[in-house]
Amino acid sequence: MDKYRDSKKIADVLSDFHGEPLITLPDPDSHAMSIRATALVFADPASIRLLEYIERIAPSDATVLIIGETGTGKELVARQVHKLSHRQEGPFIAVNCGAFSESLVESELFGHERGAFTGALSARSGWFEAANGGTLFLDEIGDLPLSAQVKILRVLQEREVVRLGSRTAIPIDVRLVAATNINLAAAVQAGRFREDLYYRLNVAALDLLPLRERPGDILPLVWYFMERYGKRLALASVDLSTDAERALLGYAWPGNIRELENVIHHALLICKNGKVTAADLHLNPDFGMLYGSASLVVGATSSLKSLEHALAALYEQPADNLFDTIEEAIIRTAYEYCESNQVQTGRLLGISRNILRHRLKRYGYLT
Ligand SMILES: Nc1ncnc2c1ncn2[C@@H]1O[C@H](COP(=O)(O)OP(=O)(O)OP(=O)(O)O)[C@@H](O)[C@H]1O
Ligand SMILES: [Mg+2]
Repeated sequence: MDKYRDSKKIADVLSDFHGEPLITLPDPDSHAMSIRATALVFADPASIRLLEYIERIAPSDATVLIIGETGTGKELVARQVHKLSHRQEGPFIAVNCGAFSESLVESELFGHERGAFTGALSARSGWFEAANGGTLFLDEIGDLPLSAQVKILRVLQEREVVRLGSRTAIPIDVRLVAATNINLAAAVQAGRFREDLYYRLNVAALDLLPLRERPGDILPLVWYFMERYGKRLALASVDLSTDAERALLGYAWPGNIRELENVIHHALLICKNGKVTAADLHLNPDFGMLYGSASLVVGATSSLKSLEHALAALYEQPADNLFDTIEEAIIRTAYEYCESNQVQTGRLLGISRNILRHRLKRYGYLT
């Protein structure tokens, strides 16, 4: 009965909606494989620590907040939390909060009775009810309007939903996993996200690092996708040239794992005899970086973009006196680049020698 209702709901939505998917079905590749082998690559020490943390929190019913840039694997990790919980037999429902108009979002989440609003021709259950006994994954939770946020808080506290237009509360047993690619703490500061809901969601937080900050995952992911797409494309063997390997390791991956997957898929389509070379990779030249450094610069046109990227990373975890720290880094690197020549450094940066000397004194280069 429940199964029937879920599949009907899924079919409804897929036929109603032609834009971004509201709901995603389980990865077909993931059937008949063990949980650990299910399309998960966690090789970098930071990722291994994360996996251990996931394994520790998954069996509980704690609400989970997954934070990460686009393409870092938020949905995949949410599914993993579900699979490793005692709810694995129940439904996993993924809902993209950013895909609803403000007027529809509450009826989508909580359901409605017949006649609850113009156009509500029949009663319909919402996603919370659909996920009963399982896990509800609310993606892009930062996009929810404040009114819906209040109601979610209530559902979490009371463990029941009230459909729009109804007075009867329906008990539900749902584990909530939420994801965001924006800084929710900043959204709280800006008054766009309720503080009480933030604390309620943030019981267990999973921080998915951008791929450039867990470089040990890059090549294992490359091999994983080479094998997967190699099979799909019926290639007898797949291989990677040394220059391709270097280029993959030296790239900043702004689109993270999803971008890496697309790059490998495309490379296998165009490479010759299953051997991928650097020329087959088509990496975005704006995001090259020197191997081993966090977010550095290759090529004149890409320099500023890469710098902006590095700055954005600093803003994510702001230190005290950030401006002074950045200014010092600019002056110090320029001074070293000019081999401690003050005239050249001043000219390079376009600042007066007086200002330069003043700063150099502050940083302890001059007495
Ligand atoms: N650890 C991993 N091992 C193997 N594949 C992964 C891993 N993490 C992510 N992927 C793959 O990368 C792609 C993007 O993952 P996912 O959709 O979970 O990211 P996301 O953070 O939800 O992205 P977005 O913010 O754009 O919605 C998927 O194809 C997923 O299977
Ligand atoms: Mg996603």
